[in-house]
Amino acid sequence: MTLSRILASTLVLGALSAFAPLSHAAKTCELSIDGNDAMQFSKQSLAVAADCTEVKLTLKHTGKLPANAMGHNWVLTETAVMQPVATAGMSAGLPNNYVPKDDKRVLAHTKVIGGGETTSVTFTTSALKKGGDYTFFCSFPGHWSVMKGKLTFG
Ligand code: CO
Repeated sequence: MTLSRILASTLVLGALSAFAPLSHAAKTCELSIDGNDAMQFSKQSLAVAADCTEVKLTLKHTGKLPANAMGHNWVLTETAVMQPVATAGMSAGLPNNYVPKDDKRVLAHTKVIGGGETTSVTFTTSALKKGGDYTFFCSFPGHWSVMKGKLTFG
């Protein structure tokens, strides 16, 4: 092997080892959704790419009504447990953002906001399974039957 070949090999190896950690690097993916005074979300589905290690979800309330009348939040659960979590959230009340406290079924949630407000939540994707069936919804009483959609991961 000539010296130049050895140098070239060393450079390639160096480049590979420099790039290798990047495939496991943290990657925060941003999602956004709006809610309005007509009790609607602006999206029916949200997609998280397979290489996202974290998600930052921003919820904006584009209406004018206050949180106690037309409050919106963004709650993520497996689709199978969405209804029981929404029911438990109603009992938890507005001081708890209509989200049951310390409930592992809640994968992520924002606080409840009113018109003109914006909030966000950042959560890790480690609790999500690729190809899993996830639903996001507003847990404000009466809203979840309309304000909901699917979140996909991977
Ligand atoms: Co709502």
